[in-house]
Amino acid sequence: MDIGELEQKLAGLEQDAARALEAAASLEEWRTARARFLGKKGYIGALMGTLRSFEREQRAQVGQLLNAANRRVTELCAEHERRIKSSQAAADVAGAELFDPTLPGRRPRLGSVHPVTAVQWEIEQIFQRLGFTVETGPEMEFEYYNFEALNIPAMHPARDMQDTFWLKSGMLLRTHTSPVQIRAMKRFGAPLRVIAPGRCFRCETLDASHENTFHQVEGLMIDRGISVSHMIAVLHLLIREVFGRELKVRLRPGFFPFVEPGFELDMSCLLCEGKGCATCKRSGWIEVLPCGMVHPNVLRAGGIDPHEFTGFAFGLGLTRLAMMKYGIRDIRVLNLGDLRALVPPSRMSGPVIAESC
Ligand code: PHE
Repeated sequence: MDIGELEQKLAGLEQDAARALEAAASLEEWRTARARFLGKKGYIGALMGTLRSFEREQRAQVGQLLNAANRRVTELCAEHERRIKSSQAAADVAGAELFDPTLPGRRPRLGSVHPVTAVQWEIEQIFQRLGFTVETGPEMEFEYYNFEALNIPAMHPARDMQDTFWLKSGMLLRTHTSPVQIRAMKRFGAPLRVIAPGRCFRCETLDASHENTFHQVEGLMIDRGISVSHMIAVLHLLIREVFGRELKVRLRPGFFPFVEPGFELDMSCLLCEGKGCATCKRSGWIEVLPCGMVHPNVLRAGGIDPHEFTGFAFGLGLTRLAMMKYGIRDIRVLNLGDLRALVPPSRMSGPVIAESC
């Protein structure tokens, strides 16, 4: 071997060493790579052994070449040792289970909850994360809040859309949670972000999909410059969170006197993913949410200037949502007090198969 060949060999070895060290992801792999190149049994060590085979006057130069290569590979090793150690330290911190033995233990949740309550809690959490507060309103309501303030004057045909239980006092059982919109606007003014879950009543004939007592969640967001796109974004997120996966949404025109424009929001069918099945009546879509932009008259009734503020509102059918989520086919099961319909803590997000009555 002459000096030229040695130089070539060393250059090749340095390249190999760099590649092997770069590929090392753990200290163990790094040690193996280092041993292959450095140390007595490594490639460079083996070349050191060839020193004597060179002419006397060449040996000094050969020694320098070998030492320089040895130094460079040693430096490379140190560099990669630092890299591996610091990335391992970062991984250790990220994956460390922070265990504080002085913290009180976590109480297991006792008892089971009604499917409607389970979904209500879930929705409250989703909206609280978006900065909404949770409001409630009375179930026994004034005609003014249930109808008039919501742009439904006396004798308006829209009153017939909701068959009302009238009380002897002239008050009524609220037919929807929308009266809480007015109460919240009056109480807090604008900007405003509230949801209002609660029980509603309508004089309906009972069947598998109609109840005279059911739950809704009202939603209301008012601020400067709120538009339909804000509404779509919030409702899309709501559906994604409740069902735990991406579902498409679409808007159709819908009429409610307290919104303008008004919409019905549909989501792609859970069962057939939009292909069309018996549940979605072959349309691929399921109607879930009436919604719209708050009518200026409603803002005014709530004491808010419609020239300065706009907002959107929606009325989520909580009972229907709970039925969809937990696979309950008959709405009447929910008001029967049937313990089999309850959701145990372990199944808070899974389906509960309740038999129909
Ligand atoms: N309150 C309406 C109903 O019960 C639903 C709704 C709420 C529609 C808010 C639009 C906006 O039918």
